[in-house]
Amino acid sequence: MLDQKMAQLLNEQVNKEFYSAYLYLDFSSYFEDEGLDGFANWYKVQAQEERDHAMLFFQYLQNNGVRPALEAVDKPAPTPDTRMGVIQAGLEHERYVTGLIHTLYDVAYGLKDFRTMQFLDWFVKEQGEEEKNAEDLVKKLGLYGEDAKGLYMLNSELAARTYTAPSLVL
Ligand code: FEO
Repeated sequence: MLDQKMAQLLNEQVNKEFYSAYLYLDFSSYFEDEGLDGFANWYKVQAQEERDHAMLFFQYLQNNGVRPALEAVDKPAPTPDTRMGVIQAGLEHERYVTGLIHTLYDVAYGLKDFRTMQFLDWFVKEQGEEEKNAEDLVKKLGLYGEDAKGLYMLNSELAARTYTAPSLVL
């Protein structure tokens, strides 16, 4: 049986991951509007990954006898009005999510809930990758974003990102 507080926090994470998907879908739509289809693709794939994250928390609750309670997903925060602003907001958001995952881990650790800790291990690692990807994007846009040819090349690179299902299977 999952501890009640642990279950509640895991349930909230379902909602927060769906919110992340919403946010990145909005970023995707911003870049589509800017004519940068590669950036739009990159964030659309990111949104798919976030939906996977939500579903993993959803499934984990179910696997442990808890019926997930689905709440309303907030409207995405207003999109910043510059490309760099959007990408930096993505990085800030990932740092925030890392904090959420660490809080979940901390609670599981306090409860000696080893099963949940093991489940969360994947997310701890995943957040490292998510932050690195977002940081790389900030760096690349800083380096090449002001130059039309550079931006074109970067956009083409981001267009090549494809979706792959998560390596964690429950
Ligand atoms: Fe679900 Fe981008 O972390």
